[in-house]
Amino acid sequence: MTTIPTGRPTLCTIDLAALRWNLRQVRAKVGAQVKILSMVKANGYGHGAPAVARVLAEEGSDGFGVATLEEGVELRQAGIGKPILVVAGTYVEQLDQFFENNLTPVVHDLESLRRLENAVQARGATMNVHLKIDTGMGRIGFLAAEIDFWLAELKKLRALQIDGMFSHFSTAENVAGDFTRAQLVTFSNQVQRLRAEGIAPPLVHLANSAATITLPAAYFDMVRPGIMLYGIYPSAAMANQIELKPVLSWQTRIVQLKKVPAGTSISYGQTFVTERESLIATLPVGYADGYSRLLSNRGAALVRGKRAPVAGRVCMDLTMLDVTAIANVQQGDEVVLLGRQGAAEISADEMAGWANTISYEVLTSIAARVPRIHHNS
Ligand SMILES: Cc1ncc(COP(=O)(O)O)c(C=O)c1O
Repeated sequence: MTTIPTGRPTLCTIDLAALRWNLRQVRAKVGAQVKILSMVKANGYGHGAPAVARVLAEEGSDGFGVATLEEGVELRQAGIGKPILVVAGTYVEQLDQFFENNLTPVVHDLESLRRLENAVQARGATMNVHLKIDTGMGRIGFLAAEIDFWLAELKKLRALQIDGMFSHFSTAENVAGDFTRAQLVTFSNQVQRLRAEGIAPPLVHLANSAATITLPAAYFDMVRPGIMLYGIYPSAAMANQIELKPVLSWQTRIVQLKKVPAGTSISYGQTFVTERESLIATLPVGYADGYSRLLSNRGAALVRGKRAPVAGRVCMDLTMLDVTAIANVQQGDEVVLLGRQGAAEISADEMAGWANTISYEVLTSIAARVPRIHHNS
């Protein structure tokens, strides 16, 4: 349990009991034989990677996925001992730190393969790597269609050992669709082909959260859930297939309350003008905290269990709400930006809809200056 900082009341609370619950749901889905690589990149999807990884490790996560070497080092420094895969690109310049921190890099093209092989060989060492195959994402990865070409190179490896092989789905929200099926078939064929040529990585993995929930055929040796660990469904249609609990909530308190006459403009650009005598609450949160400017005149927050609309433009550090319709509002009242207050709730998906984005971006955009308070409720 972290101590609640005094002063500026804008903070996120992270419910570690909900996080544990969500991991248990993943385990119940995939069974004891399939490993779980918990995705904790981007600071644990904004939840605070060290604290999240510690809890998930205790709950039986078999390893962790991060995007960058620096994220992996942060986890090692926090005492995480389980395998850590750095998924979003490998830079040979960082080889020393990969060794020092026992992190596993991904090779994703011939250039990264050759450079890493040569650098590791030059040290007289060996290194485990995972092979990334592009089966339809069109980002990093060996192109499945060019397997004849790169397979020949794999066979020449001396220093690098292929410990894993993986790909990534592009249509998470439509796991039953043709494109997803085609990616699964392509990936399975690549696995078969490698095995036939004597390369049998012990860790074959493909499933993100959506596939973990709905596509057991994609489990192979390990799944890589991300968003579901944080209590968010990859698509609303999956809500009846597994029970997840949101982990993060985001609160602040009213820093100033003012009664203004009709015709008063609020915030930059006069985009909101009161039509009646109004009660305007100012919140100490703004787009520099990750509260998107796209929520200007679109978003809402919870005050005394009711929704209050955002009035005018979200500023860098402050945002105004129209609380005229809510009884007994006081300066200092708690305001929930994301999460529950009484019976009311604002989900990351709802906020994402206001900002024309996805829950992932809402969560990972919450700025570092917003303290994360972890509790086991
Ligand atoms: C390579 C990789 N695997 C797994 C995931 C987890 O995906 P999700 O959060 O949809 O479960 C991600 C997330 O973007 C990813 O990039």
